[in-house]
Amino acid sequence: MTRRLLTTLLFPTLLAIAAPPALSRPVAMTDADATRFFHAQGCKTCHARDELRIGPSYAMIATRYPNATPETVERLRLKVLYGGAGAWGTTPMISHPDVSVAEAEAVLRWILAAGAEASKK
Ligand code: HEC
Repeated sequence: MTRRLLTTLLFPTLLAIAAPPALSRPVAMTDADATRFFHAQGCKTCHARDELRIGPSYAMIATRYPNATPETVERLRLKVLYGGAGAWGTTPMISHPDVSVAEAEAVLRWILAAGAEASKK
């Protein structure tokens, strides 16, 4: 709990201080940001953090890509934006034309990190 508090309160502040604005890398999503995003974009219909639904759980995704290279993140981003099947089965993921490249990258980083946390529990 303390750790989560530190992460949600302190980390964005540290980022704001440490990150020069010129380096406009997308800021890390908090759990609350991610929950809002999954709700707003409908990811929640097919995905949950820890349980298999129509699509794999975020923990399963993170377990499959433990040391995701930029190429892996790029491939995942393309699948989130344009949809596709074949990595987990034949059920396809729909496309998400309203999700920006930066949002997709931020949420993928959250997914890959959240799964790593879930597997520590
Ligand atoms: C209609 C159901 C559905 C929705 C809505 C959906 N997904 Fe998926 N998602 C799937 C399915 C099914 C798969 C497995 C696809 C496959 O086998 O390649 C998947 C796979 C994924 C993967 C792993 C892809 C891979 O190649 O390993 C990620 C990451 C992901 N989804 C993120 C998201 C995000 C983020 C959203 C919301 C913007 C979202 N999904 C919305 C059904 C969905």
